[in-house]
Amino acid sequence: MSTPVLPACAHRRHWLRAAAASVLAASHAIAESTPGLTIRFSHVVAEETPKGLALQRFKNLVEQRTHGRIRVQVYPDGQLYGDQDEMQALQLGAVDMLAPSLSKFARIGLPEFELFDLPFLFDAVADVRRITQGPLGQRLLDRLGRQGLVGLGYFDNGFKQMSANRPLLEPGDFVGLRMRVQASRVIAEQMRALGAQPVTLGFSETRRALAAGVVDGTENPISNFWTQRMHEVQSDLSLTQHGYLGYAVVVHQRFWRGIPTPDRDLLGQALREALAYGNTIADTQNDKAMAALRAAGTTRIHQPSASQRERLRKAVQPVHQGLARRIGSQWIDAVRYALAKP
Ligand code: LMR
Repeated sequence: MSTPVLPACAHRRHWLRAAAASVLAASHAIAESTPGLTIRFSHVVAEETPKGLALQRFKNLVEQRTHGRIRVQVYPDGQLYGDQDEMQALQLGAVDMLAPSLSKFARIGLPEFELFDLPFLFDAVADVRRITQGPLGQRLLDRLGRQGLVGLGYFDNGFKQMSANRPLLEPGDFVGLRMRVQASRVIAEQMRALGAQPVTLGFSETRRALAAGVVDGTENPISNFWTQRMHEVQSDLSLTQHGYLGYAVVVHQRFWRGIPTPDRDLLGQALREALAYGNTIADTQNDKAMAALRAAGTTRIHQPSASQRERLRKAVQPVHQGLARRIGSQWIDAVRYALAKP
């Protein structure tokens, strides 16, 4: 298995060891005793986010349609696993389903997923869907098979905004700042191109790191910013809309193949409906978070002018070229081709 093993707390290491020991027995048990199956679904964000609500919908649909025979236990907020260890937990069978951001698949050897992080590549979520809901999106999901995973579908959060304790409207505003990023080389290079120093941190550690001054700023859609209470520790939010944040739902092949076909079909259908629901509420959740943020009055909200945004776009343009080899220029070209089609 080529998953990089990142530091995990002792408690989590214990869990992972126990899971490794019982993984074969567990997958056998699934096949033989689907009645009573409980699916453990771990994620790192709050319940009141597009992701949290979509997964709650998945749980409700599955439990209703199987009359509770299959249960879905959702663990939000990184309660069970964080960014550093959730993929490993999935590989070992310590958890059954994850919905990491697309930025987080490079760390398991799939840097092509970082194409979604390329700044200013997409103008709107509708453009992203042309990729994720089409053959190119499916080809990317198929790549997960190389790591023993099955990609069951994509869904959106939305566009990211920049925050810090000052406005971030021009490339010069970033100079000298330590900006928390996800484990994505593209996002790290984007911050460097703006003059900031990227600091890779798990999502669950971000708010604490901002509060302690370990990092100065970050980027995220507003629903994540608000539900993590980052507004209490960031005085300025700049509506740069510079990049997309979305997710893929993944399971391990061993787990998925161990489920009898009728149940697998039922789960697949419930998930498709839940993800479609997630996509319909993503904008409204971000709008609601924005309204709450404005009402809280803790954080100044800045709208970059068209020329400021253009300067930001120009400053990060070299990232596209610089990371084309890592991502694979064939993927980037295919995306551009699909986007250019009428
Ligand atoms: C982040 O780490 O900033 C996001 O990927 C969190 C998430 O899952 O939305």
